[in-house]
Amino acid sequence: MIDVSSLYLLKNESFAELAKLSSLSDLDQFELYWMGRKGKLTTLLRSVSELSIEDKKTIGKFINDYKVEFTALILQKKTLLKNVSLEQKLSQEIFDTTLPGTIFPRGHQHPLSQVIAELVRIFHSFGFVVADGPEMESEFYNFEALNIPPNHPARDMQDTFYIEQTGKQPSLPSLGHLTSHEDPSLLRTHTSPVQVRIMQKYPPPISIIVPGRVYRHEAMDATHSCMFHQVEGLLVDKNVSFADLKGTLTRFAQLFFEKDVKTRFRPSYFPFTEPSAEMDISCLICSGTGCRVCKQTGWVELLGSGMVNPKVFEEVRLDPDQYSGFAFGIGIERLAIFKYGVDDLRLFCENDLRFLKQF
Ligand code: DAH
Repeated sequence: MIDVSSLYLLKNESFAELAKLSSLSDLDQFELYWMGRKGKLTTLLRSVSELSIEDKKTIGKFINDYKVEFTALILQKKTLLKNVSLEQKLSQEIFDTTLPGTIFPRGHQHPLSQVIAELVRIFHSFGFVVADGPEMESEFYNFEALNIPPNHPARDMQDTFYIEQTGKQPSLPSLGHLTSHEDPSLLRTHTSPVQVRIMQKYPPPISIIVPGRVYRHEAMDATHSCMFHQVEGLLVDKNVSFADLKGTLTRFAQLFFEKDVKTRFRPSYFPFTEPSAEMDISCLICSGTGCRVCKQTGWVELLGSGMVNPKVFEEVRLDPDQYSGFAFGIGIERLAIFKYGVDDLRLFCENDLRFLKQF
């Protein structure tokens, strides 16, 4: 039989005991003793259900209140003891501020990304903006629209990775002509297709650069790779001349190599530019006096360029009598090789930290 006075005693006893506790492990044991599955108070609580309705109102209520109060007190005590033990620990520990810290290795941009960033910075200062295009391209954008006819050697399987699309939706008959322009069927062999995409989309004046990956069906060696990076440049407006091309690219080379490099333009051929020119710079190693790197010529080839071919303008419905423009394509790896004096392309994609840490 439970009566209120013995419950009072029990309650006082438990509260007094709790107050005396001074360690967390003692508190754990105490909690188990009173509140565990077979704990004293737990058992009491269970017996409430057997009480008469009258007793439930008084004794039952007492026990429930007791439990609520007790639980709160235990929690309070736990927090207190935890704080005490933490403070004790802190006061005993010695923190030696003179010990050397741990230095975590810090990464940085890949040398090719650094070259791209620098290039973008320079062309930004000339008023160019960065544009982008897909790496899986259609024959139309990669070749046809750039005046590269079907029998051109660049279209050969030896040079181009053609792709097969799985799960491809058949193109709509009514849009047959259009969709075949859009259907990707190869990995772009250069960044030049973006020229066409941009001219289709935006009216002149246009001044863009397009850094990105390109793919060629080549065996890897020190100077060839099946994937590499280019940056395309395009400027279209009224009255753009070859002098603009020369000035822009010469200034770029000087800023990029942080040297008063000389440039020269040699006639060349690209189907999408007319006239076309390759730009050489005075050898960075010997400053033009002749050495092994430049094969005693004093010059090294840097990029391809030219005035936008009127045929390309016609393809994008721009009037060649009204507009003119220049374009160029630069190999990013080539820039990096010259800037850093690296002699093997493969180093850029092997992720060898001993190499990468030097930049
Ligand atoms: N697309 C050419 C290539 O991959 C490079 C090039 C040459 C781009 C002349 C141009 C250009 O825009 O005018 O070899």
